Amino acid sequence: MTERLLLATTNIGKTREMQACLQDLDLEILSLESLGNIEPFPEHGQTFSENARGKSLFYSRHWDSLTLGEDSGLEIDHLAGAPGVLSARFSGPDATDETNLRKVLRLLEGVPAEERTARFVSCMALSRDGRVIFEIQEFAVGRLLDHKRGRSGFGYDPIFYYPPLRRTFAELEPAEKNRVSHRGQALCRLRDYLLSVSVG
Ligand code: IMP
Repeated sequence: MTERLLLATTNIGKTREMQACLQDLDLEILSLESLGNIEPFPEHGQTFSENARGKSLFYSRHWDSLTLGEDSGLEIDHLAGAPGVLSARFSGPDATDETNLRKVLRLLEGVPAEERTARFVSCMALSRDGRVIFEIQEFAVGRLLDHKRGRSGFGYDPIFYYPPLRRTFAELEPAEKNRVSHRGQALCRLRDYLLSVSVG
């Protein structure tokens, strides 16, 4: 029987990337909308892992199959690792991708290129029957530009320059980004795990 995997996120950008990486598995992939109207998970963890596990377990209580929780964000060396777990809300409660990105550009004004190093982190936790059965953390290392470049992706992608490809994440095709990004690498390991336990 085809297994069902619930993606515990409301972020459209993330959902697209996850679906693209897992689409060829024999897996029915569903979004949080399938759960109907339930209270969102209160995301107050201090680490990506805490939030990913929290989301995964929280939504798996309403779901009888696999649940994938993901927490991700940007860690900027010059800002001592900020925004980190606060990446989605960096510019306040009404934050948007644009206001968050502008805040980063403002805080890094005048900082030379070699000190603008940063990394994206993605942590994933897969649950079933109220238990985390697999957890992964992956990274993508780059440098933050002082202006936006490219139109693809979401979040901080337009200022995240990835030196091996000499482009920002927003200048990559979705499949290219998935091959090298923090989330793409984590999804690749998740895929291997699912195949090894004969899901998919
Ligand atoms: P959360 O995991 O829902 O708490 O949100 C993660 C936040 O980190 C997103 O809203 C983005 O601002 C940022 N982020 C995570 N992954 C990416 C990415 O692949 N590209 C750009 N921004 C990202």
